[in-house]
Amino acid sequence: MAGEIDVSVDDQQYDRMEMLKAFDQTRAGVKGLLDSGLVKIPNIFVRPSEELTEESGYKNTTQLIQVPVIDLSDIQNANRRKQIVEKVRIASEKWGFFQVVNHGIPMAVLDGMIDGVRKFNEQGVEEKNKYYSRDLKRKVRFNSNYDLFSSKTANWRDTLAISFSDQINSEEEEGLPDSCRTYPLYSAEKNVIITKQEITLEYSKHVTVLGNNMLELLSEALGLKPDHLNKMECSKGHRFKFHYYPACPEPDLTLGTTKHSDIGFLTILLQNQISGLQVLHQGQWVNVEPIPGALVVNIGDLLQLVSNGKFISDTHRVVANCIGPRISVGCFFPGTISEVKVYGPIKELVSEENPAKYKEVLFTDYMMKFLNTGLDEYLGLDYYKL
Ligand code: OGA
Ligand code: NI
Repeated sequence: MAGEIDVSVDDQQYDRMEMLKAFDQTRAGVKGLLDSGLVKIPNIFVRPSEELTEESGYKNTTQLIQVPVIDLSDIQNANRRKQIVEKVRIASEKWGFFQVVNHGIPMAVLDGMIDGVRKFNEQGVEEKNKYYSRDLKRKVRFNSNYDLFSSKTANWRDTLAISFSDQINSEEEEGLPDSCRTYPLYSAEKNVIITKQEITLEYSKHVTVLGNNMLELLSEALGLKPDHLNKMECSKGHRFKFHYYPACPEPDLTLGTTKHSDIGFLTILLQNQISGLQVLHQGQWVNVEPIPGALVVNIGDLLQLVSNGKFISDTHRVVANCIGPRISVGCFFPGTISEVKVYGPIKELVSEENPAKYKEVLFTDYMMKFLNTGLDEYLGLDYYKL
């Protein structure tokens, strides 16, 4: 058309980079965009048209299947335990995803955690700014899209990432934002605050115990001794990602989190009551519907690798929503962060009839590969298949 400006691919790339930089420099994240009153989402968040077309193929499917829900009550009873192990085995082989109820973490701690994440994100930009960083050396980092500059499409999500060494100690706890440190514990009778709990610390302790218990159940479900996976240091340390997914004015054009599988051994996820998490099961996206008090447990790539493919690390994503915020607290058990640690299929699970399906990997190489690739381009275990 006469007069039309020819925008070359290079120019588009340049414009995109400028937009990403401008967005990053606001240090206010997606929440900041929403607060500015925008009604259309910026281009950097819009998924490519091929992806949007592909999506319409999924839309019409009705949802009859549900991610398994496993009741962990009375787990010390030997017969009950056998039943639970069996449920964990089936869920881990077929889905790699399940929800657990009666897991022993008090409801007040779960609510306090969600509340803390909400407060952190909804306080003034200046406070949040103090934590805004992409420097992996910082143990407490707030940013929008950790892979903002390496992925093709940005996600509608802000995240506070917390990476402590092992168990959070009091010195490290000092570095946490106030909003995620304490929460008031009310006396219902007197309607007054009786004490302040150290919320992230409290949740961290509980989720470590649950992580250990889950890895015992998973070891048993693999036919191994209960302490097998814990001895491999699968639950030695943990990392948190506090995700905040603001309401989105055009939810069909973007995603809250791009489809991916988790890279570590195990993830335990707490979500508020707004849905959005979906898992890809038999070619269909299935909602992981929030259940009050439940936690989502999912197998990560490294557990698929060491179990020699017996357990699956399923693909999942978070869709954007016109209501919000959706809040989630992901606790990741990544394995030992060590220069020399090598992970490969567990010997007991490999035989002549069932040869190793994956190579051994040096943990640091494995981690670097992930960190240097955008989430939408990372190929997970495909790099390590034999
Ligand atoms: C993740 C993830 C899901 C969610 O952080 O790896 O899948 O519900 N999060 O936030
Ligand atoms: Ni995930």
